[in-house]
Amino acid sequence: MVEQSKWVHITNEDPEHSNRYIERFRDLAANGMDLDGEARLIDAMSTRGSRILDAGCGPGRTGGALARAGHTVVGVDVDPILIAAAENDHPGPTWLVGDLAELDLASRGVDPAFDVIVCAGNVMAFLAASTRRAVLSGFRSHLATDGRAVVGFGGERGYEFDEFFDDVQAAGLVVEVTLSTWDLRPFSDDSDFLVAVLRRSA
Ligand SMILES: C[S@@+](CC[C@H](N)C(=O)[O-])C[C@H]1O[C@@H](n2cnc3c(N)ncnc32)[C@H](O)[C@@H]1O
Repeated sequence: MVEQSKWVHITNEDPEHSNRYIERFRDLAANGMDLDGEARLIDAMSTRGSRILDAGCGPGRTGGALARAGHTVVGVDVDPILIAAAENDHPGPTWLVGDLAELDLASRGVDPAFDVIVCAGNVMAFLAASTRRAVLSGFRSHLATDGRAVVGFGGERGYEFDEFFDDVQAAGLVVEVTLSTWDLRPFSDDSDFLVAVLRRSA
């Protein structure tokens, strides 16, 4: 049994948290807000019809857009209310309830050799700190040999970038590219957001 995600603690203390989150993004979509920036970067990295894992998919914003772009998408999230919203709002992908710290999609009949894993929307900052390396190791074991994982999160949420880079290395991954935004602005020591492209180390 792994330590529970911070997100689970938040939703246990505030049972309406997930529904408010869902409605906030439904309202933004209804008002024409561009919610597909992460998906566009992932799509640009991917050949048509790639197998993509949306890790911590929430209500399906990114995975849904990637499925509409022609990819085969599996989304995993620990919050069953968000997964129900993903199934309702973005039919097509395979949406699964699960904790990324115990990711084992082969045991659920899903081929674990993903071309790309996308982990957007500060998922890394919501993990229990004790599970971060397990989550990154799970990304490694769910990548095809030349697959890539793309992880984005803010630096002022309790997970220092340097600690993340150490965890990446310990998990058998290497950093290929660092950006400060999903629209390709470069990362620097002053950046308050990181988008890291990772691949399996040799
Ligand atoms: C701010 S939301 C982002 C959702 C989605 N990625 C997006 O960008 O719209 C953070 C998500 O991380 C998920 N999460 C946090 N810890 C998790 C874990 N250990 N396993 C799976 N999902 C987790 C939460 O359930 C929540 O959906």
